[in-house]
Amino acid sequence: MALSTSAAAIITSLLLLVLLRGGSSEGEGNLPQSDIDLLEFPLNLEYLEAEFFAWGALGRGLDSLAPNLAMGGPSPIGVKKARLSPVIRDIIAQFAFQEFGHLRAIKSAVKGFPRPLLNLSATSFASVMNDAFEKPLVPSFDPYANDINYLLASYVIPYVGLTGYVGANPKLQTPSSRKLVGGLLGVESGQDAVLRTLLYERGKVRVSPYRYTVAEFTNKISNLRNKLGKEGLKDEGLIVQPVEGAEGKIAGNVLVGDQYSLSFARTPQEILRIVYATAQENTPGGFYPQGADGQIAKSHLRTQSNKRFN
Ligand SMILES: *[C@@H]1O[C@H](CO)[C@@H](O)[C@H](O)[C@H]1NC(C)=O
Repeated sequence: MALSTSAAAIITSLLLLVLLRGGSSEGEGNLPQSDIDLLEFPLNLEYLEAEFFAWGALGRGLDSLAPNLAMGGPSPIGVKKARLSPVIRDIIAQFAFQEFGHLRAIKSAVKGFPRPLLNLSATSFASVMNDAFEKPLVPSFDPYANDINYLLASYVIPYVGLTGYVGANPKLQTPSSRKLVGGLLGVESGQDAVLRTLLYERGKVRVSPYRYTVAEFTNKISNLRNKLGKEGLKDEGLIVQPVEGAEGKIAGNVLVGDQYSLSFARTPQEILRIVYATAQENTPGGFYPQGADGQIAKSHLRTQSNKRFN
């Protein structure tokens, strides 16, 4: 009796040990390389959002608020504090700190890489808008000028991250990676929903001094992203043909979805084509003048240099 009790106790503690070791296995060491690459890739976008939101709302970025997170990467170009009303400033400040959290979460799962060089100058956003309208806006678009311009500039970013997380999820092999991406996707799509709702309320407002409305800006930006991504329709503005709205029945399009109102998925290649603004995953530009970092982005940059030297 006593013997079998202690044998049971030994078996129990052995089992516990095995379980505990298994349970604490969330480090990079246990992730397949493909999961590591897919988890590191979105750091590129999270860095961009962290800097754009923190500077926009608070007038400072990672270098002053969380210097360790930048891991020594270069400071962003041309980013600055936006002229925002108190409620928008408050919301954007919340987004900024959410992005800091996302950077920490990803880096607690994988090693990550330093902040890449980011071009967040007013001209960088102005050039996105010029591409969207297929002609130069005069005067050039200033993302930092007021609430509406800043919200439109913000429309350019979290949605792209969202489609990337939707795209990454089925490729991940481990539950811990999928759990992380699910958590990132939830808040990223929440940010997109808040931005779109704020813009939707202002949909018919003219974006001064241009003759286009807020809704027209969003439609143009979304069309540009479809064009740059080169994989068909995965992006929609705030007002669509009813046939493209939910259930093919409604023009208001506060959230983007496919025919079943499911989020669209994008691959890293599509995302690079969009954020480089070059429609080429091997040709940096746009917000990333020296390209994005991490294994996936760098493999495409290598493709370019091979082509050049062969
Ligand atoms: C930032 O982007 C703007 C617009 O594309 C460009 O004119 C400027 O040269 C860029 N700055 C750097 C340092 O790449």
